[in-house]
Amino acid sequence: MKRRYEHGASTPLPSNSKPRISYHDDENRFSEDENTKDLARKVAEHYSARTNQTLEEREASPIIHLKKLNNWIKSVLIQLYARRGDAVLDMGCGKGGDLIKWDKAQIGYYVGIDMAEGSIEDCRTRYNGEADARRKKFTFPARLLCGDCFEVPLDRVLEDDAPFDICSCQFALHYSWQTEARARRALENVASLLRPGGIFIGTMPDANVLIQKLRNVEGLTFGNSVYSISFNEAHSQKKFDSSKPFGIQYTFHLEDAVDCPECIVPFRIFKSLADEYGLELLLVKNSHEFVDEYLKKLEFVDLMRRLGALGDGKNNHSTISEDEWEVAYLYLVFVFKKRGQPDTQQRSKGNKGRNGLTQISKSDIMFIKTDR
Ligand SMILES: C[S@@+](CC[C@H](N)C(=O)[O-])C[C@H]1O[C@@H](n2cnc3c(N)ncnc32)[C@H](O)[C@@H]1O
Repeated sequence: MKRRYEHGASTPLPSNSKPRISYHDDENRFSEDENTKDLARKVAEHYSARTNQTLEEREASPIIHLKKLNNWIKSVLIQLYARRGDAVLDMGCGKGGDLIKWDKAQIGYYVGIDMAEGSIEDCRTRYNGEADARRKKFTFPARLLCGDCFEVPLDRVLEDDAPFDICSCQFALHYSWQTEARARRALENVASLLRPGGIFIGTMPDANVLIQKLRNVEGLTFGNSVYSISFNEAHSQKKFDSSKPFGIQYTFHLEDAVDCPECIVPFRIFKSLADEYGLELLLVKNSHEFVDEYLKKLEFVDLMRRLGALGDGKNNHSTISEDEWEVAYLYLVFVFKKRGQPDTQQRSKGNKGRNGLTQISKSDIMFIKTDR
């Protein structure tokens, strides 16, 4: 039987001493509900339907080097910010593609949440080692949940698991920018579950690049042999009102990976919203800039060479195609820190009182029910 958690009335968002920025267009505040649910459903169905690839299929992918590059970026982020024994919350964890990276960082506890049931199931089998019999078991206990982490308040659901030292949201946060309520819920969840001094890392589309590219083409579509992005007629002026920063939708197609409606996340507004929730920006860089900067460090060059994303990992970028490299430019990397003094006692909680397991059965996955 599936474990379920039904969230009742939403917990109130935090009252903050600073006035909250409000972008509400009251007319649309309620009418967008159905669209919002519809979009979330489409995203969940899309990712659920994507099956695990065999190694051969993966290597034959037209974006294999982009995938490797993204894995390098995420590995670098994890190596820079994770410490041995850390408790990690992975929001939009997908099929658990980062489990090995967390294992290498010797974390102490992992909670993964994703709304795509198929992906969480793949994450479960990957964690258990069922996907690859040669892999040794992961060293950290884990817990998996299936639910919409941009809709459900997670503080009660993860009461026994929090606080976390790190929250990671890789290539997923832009799905929260359909409405202000969802964007706030995402940040509220991160902030309420992190310990003071805890770190929030992530990757998401770089709105400045998308808008610049849109303005550089005649129509409303741009792309290359591996991706395309289309805005609809509502954006034919190519002007974006900063007082209405949510729900700026486009459709994204990436060969062998994504076919989904997504939303622009204007970074300046994301940063000020995060600030309201006590999250202070430490780093933001376009992926190209991030690669340039961290390829100056020997240990990361070595990792790049082993992954084979960029040739020899130094000046020779021969393996990645120009078209894949252009896709990398569509993304940025960010790091925030939760304000406040770290409480050393909280950090030493270990796995005590937490619900982590070292072997996860189907019935151990908790399903967080929403009225979708
Ligand atoms: C591009 S995939 C990235 C997966 C993983 N983070 C990685 O880097 O390999 C985006 C993931 O975000 C998940 N996602 C999108 N919106 C979500 C939401 N509201 N709640 C939970 N997961 C969500 C999708 O189901 C999908 O698995």
